[in-house]
Amino acid sequence: MKEGLEGLRVELTAAPRGVPPDATANFGTVFTDHIFQMRYDAGQGWHDPEILPLADLSLAPGTSVLHYAQAVFDGLKGFRGRDGVVRLFRPEAHAQRLRRSAERLAIPPIAEEWVVESFLRLVDIDREWVPAERGTALYLRPTIIATDIAVGLHPSHSFLYFLILCPVGAYYAEGAAPVSIVATEEFVRAAPGGLGDAKTPANYAASLLAGERAKEAGYTQVLWLDAVERRWIEEVGTMNIMARIGEEVVTPPLGGTILAGVTRDSALRLMRSWGLKVSERPIAIDALVAAAKDGTLSEVWGTGTAAVVSAVGEIGWRGERVRVNDGKAGALTRRLYDAVTAIQYAEAPDPFGWTVSVPAYN
Ligand code: COI
Repeated sequence: MKEGLEGLRVELTAAPRGVPPDATANFGTVFTDHIFQMRYDAGQGWHDPEILPLADLSLAPGTSVLHYAQAVFDGLKGFRGRDGVVRLFRPEAHAQRLRRSAERLAIPPIAEEWVVESFLRLVDIDREWVPAERGTALYLRPTIIATDIAVGLHPSHSFLYFLILCPVGAYYAEGAAPVSIVATEEFVRAAPGGLGDAKTPANYAASLLAGERAKEAGYTQVLWLDAVERRWIEEVGTMNIMARIGEEVVTPPLGGTILAGVTRDSALRLMRSWGLKVSERPIAIDALVAAAKDGTLSEVWGTGTAAVVSAVGEIGWRGERVRVNDGKAGALTRRLYDAVTAIQYAEAPDPFGWTVSVPAYN
């Protein structure tokens, strides 16, 4: 048996569906015609890479991932540049994170170059699905699941890696309008020693009830505090958080409970290249709210692959609603959004070498 992507088998659909006209209207609900799959078996390693017509998976009800969530995923985007070329944004960084997430979940990692090749190969085949309008993209969802059929708890001996693709538009219903966030002391997203820095389904499942409570209270998203003191801000919804206080841009440091966002890293590198003072340091919720009240907090935003850069217009804390920048997106938030997306759509030079063109394999 050949290992890795050598010997990739490609079976094209006999019935291409054509891209529906409203394909990007509802984030992540429309899928392209093909799927990439590869299996792992103990003793054999990762083997039999295939691109197949998209079809439902068939899993026995006793498949361990359905019971114990031994699974990881990632999310990245491809863009159709203004020159018509399709490019992926930082695919190596996402492949590296998928490997780190897999290691934390006791999943045998896949060589990063194979993961990147799976991205490029599948996007090449479904290239026509990459939307062209600014603000749209192709979202790539690589996922690894445990496939042993066993309800006894142990790390699986077999896994499935699959990659699916969705044409997408804006992530939030608000579009680019600022979101409102509420800090919770009742729920936490991640504790020290837990899964917070892995992109794994359990983290997202753990966030859902708090998210519903936030919506009931009239907010878009939860502002997560640390699990130990419920004092230090960590993330916002599914994004990393940044704030501009006085002349300093601050963001919580990566310390095991925070996902190492690729957009977070991109934003930090851009701002440092612009000569801004950027600090990765703990930020207390009390200090953030106090700065919002005395006007030194001029901007708050979230960074993530799905929404890219998303302004925060209001913070809820202990029953009080505090506005940030009068509820409007700030100048640095807009500058960052514009700079990242200009690189993504090849409207500006790519000084960090973040984009990778998707070659034509056939
Ligand atoms: C992100 O890119 O911000 C995500 O994690 C999105 C995902 C939950 C759809």
